[in-house]
Amino acid sequence: MIKYIDQIDITAKKVLIRTDFNVPMNEKGDITDDTRIRACLPTIMYALAQNAKVIILSHMGRPKGERIEKLSLKPVAGRLSEILGKNVDFVDDCIGDNVKAKIEELTAGNVLLLENARYHIGETKNNSDFVKSLSELADVYINDAFSASHREHASVFGITPLVKEIAGGLLMKKELTSLNRVFEDPLRPMVAILGGAKVSTKIGTIENILPKVEKLIIGGAMANTFLGAMGVNVGDSLVEPDFYETATNILKKAKEMNRNIYLPVDCIIAPEMTQDAPTKMIPVQEVTSGWKIFDIGFATLNLFAEALQDAKTILWNGPVGAFEIDNFAMGTIRLSHAVVSNYAFSVVGGGDTVAAIKMAKDENLISYISTGGGAFLEYLEGKELPGIKALDK
Ligand code: 3PG
Repeated sequence: MIKYIDQIDITAKKVLIRTDFNVPMNEKGDITDDTRIRACLPTIMYALAQNAKVIILSHMGRPKGERIEKLSLKPVAGRLSEILGKNVDFVDDCIGDNVKAKIEELTAGNVLLLENARYHIGETKNNSDFVKSLSELADVYINDAFSASHREHASVFGITPLVKEIAGGLLMKKELTSLNRVFEDPLRPMVAILGGAKVSTKIGTIENILPKVEKLIIGGAMANTFLGAMGVNVGDSLVEPDFYETATNILKKAKEMNRNIYLPVDCIIAPEMTQDAPTKMIPVQEVTSGWKIFDIGFATLNLFAEALQDAKTILWNGPVGAFEIDNFAMGTIRLSHAVVSNYAFSVVGGGDTVAAIKMAKDENLISYISTGGGAFLEYLEGKELPGIKALDK
């Protein structure tokens, strides 16, 4: 059983909270999306309310053990300070005497943000000396970084046996509770929507999800491989002929298990994926060479919306078209509207899908949007995430 921060006594203790503040920044170093910072506020505010000394640890980007200035967490200290409405102190390392001295100065009810853990190669290598140095910083360790918990890294995995008290944060609790609601005992019917470019990268996900759902909607370029496997000519569209056999086996398995798979019946095509390319909406059977499929058409949208109508649980990962280009955004945006317009419990995850839902302005209508990218995908594949397993003492 995983314990959470609100089930242990952290009063006046030194509490090290592992967050995922790996947030996007522009060239000027401004944070362009602070969702991940805001998502950790419940845990931070809870710890402050208990008068804990809050020490925050995170990674940013992939500096591979080098001190790359633009991957510093310093701007995050500023933003966190604005959101919390109180000063957040910052120290330019995450281990060592200087950091320990800063922690000693930290008074109860205050926050110290440590510098990017990945400035030390020991973080990603889970090096024992680095793990030991991290574990000496606090009395209690809290993992609130679901989105980094698929990594066997020092700050999410290696540290857990060395700190006396460990627990999950409130964001971790929300992530796992929402995913459990989908995977453990979902209200039925349950419908999954899987999109994205390649079947090759989603085989594990499809195989893990298919037995759990009544209906599986497949879109995006991934659907082209299924159509190709069924003998449909997809013109010059992105397709993986090496995976025709896999796609055929998945379709066969679905039939045997009595699961319905929904594929596009019409599509929007263009010669190139550009905004000024000419487009046509045609049945999938009519794609010819020189043309590529970039989005679903209206008939498919109606078919998918119809399939979602009686859903009580919806899980969505992967856009159904090249939504980043206006001409090919219609399918994904309207599918998002279809997802939020029924009363299902809906869970969405993955960077592209979340971006599409924000573009559709539906983010407040989805029941739960995961902060996980790679971690969410690994969870969907049925893999045990090392950082979560390590919490389960
Ligand atoms: C993410 O952005 O998905 C997490 O912060 C994990 O980052 P990583 O893929 O560099 O480990």
